[in-house]
Amino acid sequence: MSADASQRIRQDVQSMHAYAIQDAAGMVKLDAMENPYGLPPALQAALGARLGALALNRYPGPRVNDLRTALAAYADMPEGFDLMLGNGSDELISLLALACDVPGASILAPLPGFVMYAMSAQLQGLAFHGVPLTADFELDLPAMLAAIAAHRPAIVYLAYPNNPTANLWDDAAIEAIIEAQGAQGGLVVMDEAYQPFASKTWLTRIRQAPERHGHVLLMRTLWGCGWAT
Ligand SMILES: Cc1ncc(COP(=O)(O)O)c(C=O)c1O
Repeated sequence: MSADASQRIRQDVQSMHAYAIQDAAGMVKLDAMENPYGLPPALQAALGARLGALALNRYPGPRVNDLRTALAAYADMPEGFDLMLGNGSDELISLLALACDVPGASILAPLPGFVMYAMSAQLQGLAFHGVPLTADFELDLPAMLAAIAAHRPAIVYLAYPNNPTANLWDDAAIEAIIEAQGAQGGLVVMDEAYQPFASKTWLTRIRQAPERHGHVLLMRTLWGCGWAT
């Protein structure tokens, strides 16, 4: 890029690094939540025929609601919640940063965690507060609650299970964070991108106590398609 043109690009954006993807040659690749199996030939053919007949020359229009309804039924979405689709969870994470961008807003998450939480904050010009995990990769609840009280973040992200440490958080710690965020008018995002590898989902808790989860978004990823309550 020419020196003149690059002056138009924010310095902090220029100094950002590309999302690093490890070489997985020769390994069973599970880290990116991809399906290791291809589609059976009959399904490939049926999908191809279906896609070929779609009106790709038009915007999708209200038909997106058919997909939302089908996904809500698939996920057994609790009554009173709604669902938003994104072009991958990454788009939803970016849109959340944009939607919460009021003066003084910030985003908070445990560290190490998924890189997009901090990156979406930086790109949107919001502050990001990372709270280190304990030495055994658990949530440091006193530190999380102190940071929530100090910064009053618009969003707290909890990846469940966490990326990259792969563990599920303690239920009582999550409850305390949800309560603290609710009390100060913030959101909590339970990011279940890796839920299919886990024994639990926070959806169970949401179903048990929907009245305590009006400020909680649950995010999943499905072949590049995110959904949130
Ligand atoms: C915790 C977490 N959330 C969200 C994402 C983004 O997923 P998507 O491919 O749906 O954008 C990832 C991808 O690695 C992830 O690890």
